[in-house]
Amino acid sequence: MAETLLLDQTATKAEKYETLLPQIQALTLGETDLIANLANIAAALKQGFGFFWVGFYLDRGKELVLGPFQGTIACVRIAHQAGVCGAAYSTQKTIIVADVDQFDGHIACSSDSKSEIVVPIFKDGKVVMVLDVDSEHLNHFDETDKVYLEKLAEFMGKNLL
Ligand code: SME
Repeated sequence: MAETLLLDQTATKAEKYETLLPQIQALTLGETDLIANLANIAAALKQGFGFFWVGFYLDRGKELVLGPFQGTIACVRIAHQAGVCGAAYSTQKTIIVADVDQFDGHIACSSDSKSEIVVPIFKDGKVVMVLDVDSEHLNHFDETDKVYLEKLAEFMGKNLL
């Protein structure tokens, strides 16, 4: 297993994702423990991009519950329809929020978080968790993040869950 990530911080965002995703795949494919893999994926994204917060909320039947993450302490339980995470879970679609203050029902775990992307992760056609990435900058996430984080979600659904 690679112990260091190879990252060129001068690269474009797309180039960084192109470099990072194969390393995340290499890091996780030989490991069967889901929690360990989620923890390393959160760490790799945080390390690679310096995001304010990266983590997973797992469907625990009644609600979403905080899983492995990197960043400041966070809300533990989120109802299936609540917040950006619940919206991504219930609509089964990636949601980009340019300004969290403009999103009706946004759940503020930290007042430092200004924009957010939440990507649903599917197993057998059902959303089983969401990946939540927060930035302390407004309007930080765009189509490039959506494309690559959905690729990551697809890899996870097929190989790790
Ligand atoms: N903002 C999220 C809650 C999770 S924290 O950002 C880590 C939401 O509205 O669902």
